[in-house]
Amino acid sequence: IPIKLVFRGTLIHSLEASHVQILENSLIGITESGTIGFVKENVVDDSKYESLKTQLGFTDAQVVNLGRRFIIPGFIDTHAHAPQYHNAGTGTDLPLLKWLEKYTFPTESKFRDLKFADNVYRKVVRRMLRNGTTTCCYFATIHTDASKLLAEIVTRAGQRAYVGKVCMDRHSPDHYVEQTDDSVRDTEEFITAIKAANNPLVQPIVTPRFAPSCSDKLMKELGALSHRHNTLLQSHISENIDECKWVQSLYPQCSSYTDVYSHFDMMHERTIMAHGCHLSETELRTFAETRAGVSHCPVSNFTLSSGALDVRKALGMDVKVGLGTDVSGGYSASMLVVIRDVIKASNSIQFNKPTDQEKKDYSPVGFEEAFYLATVGGSKLVNLQDTIGNFIDGKDFDAQIIDPFSQNSPFDVFDADTPLDIFQKFIFLGDDRNVDSIYVKGHFIFIFFQMMNNTNT
Ligand code: GUN
Ligand code: ZN
Repeated sequence: IPIKLVFRGTLIHSLEASHVQILENSLIGITESGTIGFVKENVVDDSKYESLKTQLGFTDAQVVNLGRRFIIPGFIDTHAHAPQYHNAGTGTDLPLLKWLEKYTFPTESKFRDLKFADNVYRKVVRRMLRNGTTTCCYFATIHTDASKLLAEIVTRAGQRAYVGKVCMDRHSPDHYVEQTDDSVRDTEEFITAIKAANNPLVQPIVTPRFAPSCSDKLMKELGALSHRHNTLLQSHISENIDECKWVQSLYPQCSSYTDVYSHFDMMHERTIMAHGCHLSETELRTFAETRAGVSHCPVSNFTLSSGALDVRKALGMDVKVGLGTDVSGGYSASMLVVIRDVIKASNSIQFNKPTDQEKKDYSPVGFEEAFYLATVGGSKLVNLQDTIGNFIDGKDFDAQIIDPFSQNSPFDVFDADTPLDIFQKFIFLGDDRNVDSIYVKGHFIFIFFQMMNNTNT
């Protein structure tokens, strides 16, 4: 496949969890079909560069010199509620179940109005993109039309996404609840419609809200739908202690929260469960065995005072872990903010260990590993580990060009800073002002370009 575009400069990505790989003086070639055609490091002198031009077949390609900018993989947000973006940054004063009743359900019920939905959905997709999130797993609402609209907006924007029509037929307010049969029928119609739209980047995901909001019949049917249509499935698990107690009282015959989902055939290799703060070792083992993944959402967990997933323990047990913003349990749409809280959550687990020895034996998640979880980790949750997550030949080019010297950059770079220092400053202090441009499957994301130029669309 011919090479259409080549970037020359620094690439930063993860091959393994423990450290980032920094490739200076590199070339990355993007093919006409949006895949990575080649990665060459250490191309310092111009004669080598000239000979590679013919050798790698990019004599006719556009070549972009990155200068002091660098390229990193696009972020993968494995858990976000698109309608709740309306409330992001507000309603942070209540624990989960009260928070759902007071703020979340009333807002989500407004999405029966397509005009209201259109406005919020355009804004959330843009906000995600400008923060470098090239792939997102979205919860929409119970409304099929508005959920389809979200998929259309994502398609128009060029983002890679999994879009779920939310299902809930019990323990919900009268103004925001479905009949069981309608929920199943609408979900199947939604799956069919999204697949018929024929955009390989945007896929349907079966979305039971969480066990308390779905009757046994609905749970059983949704589990079956995820198998029949071979789709991903997303829900919530073990986020908050009161929620866990509630699930236990609803299912006294089940041994755990995870067991409830297992019972309805919802624990499989295409499953993404958000939070998992209070999962037992036995439950984590079930995750590892079934290859279901956990979306770790620490910004949300700290804000709603839910708890904290022990990421080190989950990873040590070979559980797939990705990161999620959980907008708007999490107040920020930025995966950088999530990465910072992953580190804090992990540190807090270390400093809460009862003995000095246990503290010493515990190795918390650092910034390089948190970055790995935001990219490669997420790719495993959506089973796209062979397609996205880092810069390996043949994968799709989903990337962000980062400019540490952008106008109004929130951090400063000094002469002594190494490339790793600059990358670390971006992780801890950077924001959307440093995101110069983004690409999904080799396509420049135009909506993002418009936004940066303050075009009001
Ligand atoms: N559990 C059930 N619904 C929700 C939700 O919308 N947000 C969060 N954080 N947890 C949930
Ligand atoms: Zn959530």
